[in-house]
Amino acid sequence: STSEGADRYEITQREATLQVLPGISTPMWTYGGTFPGPTIESRRGRKVIVTHHNELPVPTVVHLHGGRTPAAHDGYPTDLVLPAAWSHLALHGGHAGHGSAGGHGMTDARAVVTNRQRAYEFPLDQRATMLWYHDHRMDFTAPAIWRGLAGLHFVRDDVDDALDLPRGDHELPMMIADRAFDADGRLAYPALDPTLTGQPGVTEAYLAGVLGDVILVNGAPWPVHEVDTGVYRLRILNGSNARHYELEAVAENGRTLPLVQIGADQGLLAAPVRHEHLPIAPAERYDLLIDFGGLPVGSRVRLANRLGTGRTADVMQFHVVRHGASAPIPDRLADDLPEWDRSQATVIRDFAFRAGRMNGRHGWLIDGQPFDPARTDVTTRLGDIEVWRLIADVHHPIHLHLVGFRVLSRGGAEPLPHDAGLKDTISLRPGESAEIITRFDGYRGRYLFHCHNAEHEDMGMMANLEIV
Ligand code: C2O
Ligand code: CU
Ligand code: CU
Repeated sequence: STSEGADRYEITQREATLQVLPGISTPMWTYGGTFPGPTIESRRGRKVIVTHHNELPVPTVVHLHGGRTPAAHDGYPTDLVLPAAWSHLALHGGHAGHGSAGGHGMTDARAVVTNRQRAYEFPLDQRATMLWYHDHRMDFTAPAIWRGLAGLHFVRDDVDDALDLPRGDHELPMMIADRAFDADGRLAYPALDPTLTGQPGVTEAYLAGVLGDVILVNGAPWPVHEVDTGVYRLRILNGSNARHYELEAVAENGRTLPLVQIGADQGLLAAPVRHEHLPIAPAERYDLLIDFGGLPVGSRVRLANRLGTGRTADVMQFHVVRHGASAPIPDRLADDLPEWDRSQATVIRDFAFRAGRMNGRHGWLIDGQPFDPARTDVTTRLGDIEVWRLIADVHHPIHLHLVGFRVLSRGGAEPLPHDAGLKDTISLRPGESAEIITRFDGYRGRYLFHCHNAEHEDMGMMANLEIV
């Protein structure tokens, strides 16, 4: 609904039993009863208020990934929306104290009751792009996303509209995410299976990040999507906890269809970049055009994953079922990309993303430390431009909240073609370093940066950034 200059949405977080695999019931945690949750459509600069009601059995946190959001609404990992069910427990506590209105129990009960829902406000004063909202509770983000707490949120603007890119049924939002299922159709998550663990909650499969053997696109396994011979705009999110893909579109004659990149995590590029195949790490988004013109009606195009084996080598298929109008691919896109220069940077900071031991256990650490909500790791001034040098031991997709950044270098050399544009997540390959540059503008407050391998994040590879 629309009121007071804001678009308002209500989302109830609740358990639902969905048919993800044909004919099989899978209990999930959902935003509003579906997986993915409802897709939200917004205009740049128009405020959106999303009220989340928590009817799940656990506390939750909502983060709008890629959103330029004031800190109080950014979904800090300890800023919990408590379960509605807990209010009854707390009220019991109050009654046990004989109902003294000023008693400690009653105070707690009120606190809990007010926390079972939360209105998140998003100014969305940012370039048009596709964002995703997902759970972000400290230590439990990975299993919460795995169980279904993820959805897409589009921001549109006039720059994007004016390009006349494919839209309507020629624009396909695609949340790609792998999952594993047990014999009864329940989602299988190794860290939660005590029979697999020596130490409770820790398995080899968990340490590297949890992988599934079923590839879902928008919650459906290996879907077949009917298309015409026109140009389609694919809005792709890798919503997997830990799986990397390298996408390639292969026609039946073996020919590879180019994936023409027009946008990155934070909106349109200056000019399109053609890829024969395209790596995509967890949390990255790519905005692509694909042209089915020239293919015979009746033919199929396989969207393959060159990093997969067996079933995970396939993502989905396009089935060309009719003729469609071809559309030109513009050769210039947006001219509002920030062009920051190293010479503008007030500071160069180094961050190492590496495994280490903490409390006798394996952990994923930033500069040797696990996440601590009570520690400020970086303090920066609003408006400052900074260069960050990031280095990784194994594959780590590194994400910054609030800001978009440009990639200055990778592995001591030029950025790769898919590093183009404004990003909020950069995929560091094993042993690789990269330099990014950004301007910390927007809002003051406490934000995060972290690895977006969701299990690495839960195991501590996250840090606090305070903008003052
Ligand atoms: Cu996708 Cu800290 O988030
Ligand atoms: Cu984020
Ligand atoms: Cu990582």
